[in-house]
Parts: sequence; structure tokens; C-alpha cells
Amino acid sequence: MWLLTVLLLWVDPTKAGITLQPPWVSVFQEETVTLQCVGPRVPGNSATLWFLNGTATPTSTPSYSIASASDRDSGEYRCRTGLSVLSDPVQLEVRRDWLLLQVSSRVVMEGEPLALRCHAWKNKQVYNVFYYQNGKVIKSFNRNSDLTIPKTNINHNGIYHCSGMGRNRYTSAGVSVTVKELFPAPVLKASVTSPLLEGNLVTLSCETKLLRQRPGLQLSFAFYMGSKTLQGRNTSSEYQILAARSEDSGLYWCECLFSLSFSVSGLQSPTPVWFHFLFYVVVGIMFLVDTVLCVTIWKELKRKKKWNLEIPLDSAHEKKRQEQEEQLQNRVHRQAPQEA
Ligand SMILES: *[C@@H]1O[C@H](CO)[C@@H](O)[C@H](O)[C@H]1NC(C)=O
Ligand SMILES: *[C@@H]1O[C@H](CO)[C@@H](O)[C@H](O)[C@H]1NC(C)=O
Repeated sequence: MWLLTVLLLWVDPTKAGITLQPPWVSVFQEETVTLQCVGPRVPGNSATLWFLNGTATPTSTPSYSIASASDRDSGEYRCRTGLSVLSDPVQLEVRRDWLLLQVSSRVVMEGEPLALRCHAWKNKQVYNVFYYQNGKVIKSFNRNSDLTIPKTNINHNGIYHCSGMGRNRYTSAGVSVTVKELFPAPVLKASVTSPLLEGNLVTLSCETKLLRQRPGLQLSFAFYMGSKTLQGRNTSSEYQILAARSEDSGLYWCECLFSLSFSVSGLQSPTPVWFHFLFYVVVGIMFLVDTVLCVTIWKELKRKKKWNLEIPLDSAHEKKRQEQEEQLQNRVHRQAPQEA
């Protein structure tokens, strides 16, 4: 029985994860930061391995505490728990400056949140704070405040910095943030490229390509003509007009929606102690009955990408038909004005 459990875990290894408290990947010298290694453990054994720049550290507890950060703490951290594989790296940077733009992560998957903080040395008050992305102001606050982007998209890629007024106006160094795109905007294609005639079968397909696989990612598609919904959210990326009639002329568009589950990171409030307690009790019981328990906290997200396609259909006028042909051949796609 135990062997079976071990085998099951071995076949489906879980990656450990690192959360930071406070949740920023860069800190000032002398500040405090705690890294927490999250992953399945053998009950009663909290042993954790911590690596800094690829070298094992003496720390063997689930949390890695840095009481007063110094240059020696800068670097790439990874961890693993008893029943997990090595986590993705977290790059911790220790700086000395007047103002520091802190980010919750330097690399985020499209749809995940990103938090920014304009943090002054020794927590000094700064006013009239500006956040910049690629040199342009994106937000200003009279009283200093964090900036949260709840759902990132590729437009959030770039270099961020901030400035704030203390005794003088201070400006932070830039921090590069990368948002990894999951799939490009879909393209709506029609099966018919020759002149559309009444009675024709037209298949519309909403095409997109997943750029990266991700567990918990699901795509679905919706088709519209003008403001009318032709096919609501469905996993099928095709829609058929069985016998086109002149009323079917119009502007068609499709939406590709995704729902994404992702692990709650250090951005959210830390898990309370009772949760850890409950977690160990539950894991213990589950092991006794020889069942594998996977606990991950998932959050559902949706985002839409749209694409338009003009389908004119008019059997009467030759001139119009030529236009149709051109339009269909050129496949003039227009990006929908806004995300819904
Ligand atoms: C880890 O590597 C980074 C960059 O390669 C370096 O700046 C840092 O000092 C290293 N940290 C340690 C503890 O060796
Ligand atoms: C999705 O589309 C298929 C084929 O068009 C259809 O058979 C099915 O009922 C649809 N499902 C939903 C939930 O609308």
C-alpha cells in the first residue's frame, strides 16, 4: 500500500513553490524577508532543502528567514520539500538606494496579478508618487500607495520605475517585468473564399495557437454576428451557417476565452496557522487510508480575445460580389475595440 502511494507520487511529482513575505523580489539592505517553501511533505517531517545560486544552504526549515538583508543574500533561490521536485527559481535582489520599485514577480503568466510598490529607504514618507512603464506615467498618487494589476496581459510587459517626493524628488532604478503570453488573439476564418452564394455552407473557425502548455488552462470559443450571440461559450472552435441567406450578411466576430487556475502566491494574505495544522492532519489521515491528497489553492480567471470578420452576402449585385470576394480574400480582420 505504502509502495503504491510512493509510486503514485513519483509518477506525478509536484513542484515546490516559493512565496515571499513581504511579497517583493527586491529589498533594501537591512530589511527583513522570509521565503517559504510550499510543497507536499512526508507527515511529521518538515525537512526542506534550500539552494542559493545552485549551492545547498545549511537552512533545513520550511521558511528561510533573512533578518537583515545584505549583498550576500542576493541571488537565485530554489527549494524542495520531502515529496516535491525542485521549485522554479526566485531571484532576490538586495539594493542600496533612496527609492526602490518593488515588484511581486519579474516574470508572470498572462492573467496572473502583479503588484508594484514604490518603497523608500528606511520607510521614509514620500509624496506625489509616479509609477512609470517604459518611461510613461501610468499612475500617480498624492499619498504613496501600492499599485496592483489584477490581471496582466502582454501590454504590461516592460520596464517599470517610480519617483516620489521626499526632501528632493527621488527616482528608482528600472525593473524589467515579463508577461508570458498564453495564446495570440484569435483569427476568424471562413471556409468559403470564392463568392458567397445563397444556400452555401459556411464554416467559421476561430483559430488560435497555444504558445505554452499550462496545467489548468482551458480554452473556449464564442461566435457573434453584430450584437447577436450565435454560439455561446463552447469548446468547439467552429461554427456553421448551414445554408447562407442574405440575412446572414454582416459583421462576424469570435472570442476565445480562457480560464486559468494558478497557485495563490505571496501576494495574497499568508495561509493562517490553522490551515497548516488542518493540512497536516488531513495529509496524515489520507496517508493512513492510502490516498494521495494534492492541496493547491486555485483561482479561476477569464480573459477574452476577440477577432472580427466581415461577411457580406448579397446574391443580386455583381459589383458587391466582387467586393465580397476581395474582402474575404484579404480577410480584413479588425481587432474588437475592447476586451469585454
Ligand atoms: C548569486 O549570483 C548573483 C549573480 O550571479 C550574485 O550577484 C550574488 O552575489 C550571488 N550570491 C551569492 C550568495 O553567491
Ligand atoms: C458545443 O458545440 C457542439 C457542436 O456545435 C454542440 O453539439 C454542443 O451541444 C455545444 N455545447 C454547448 C455546451 O453548448
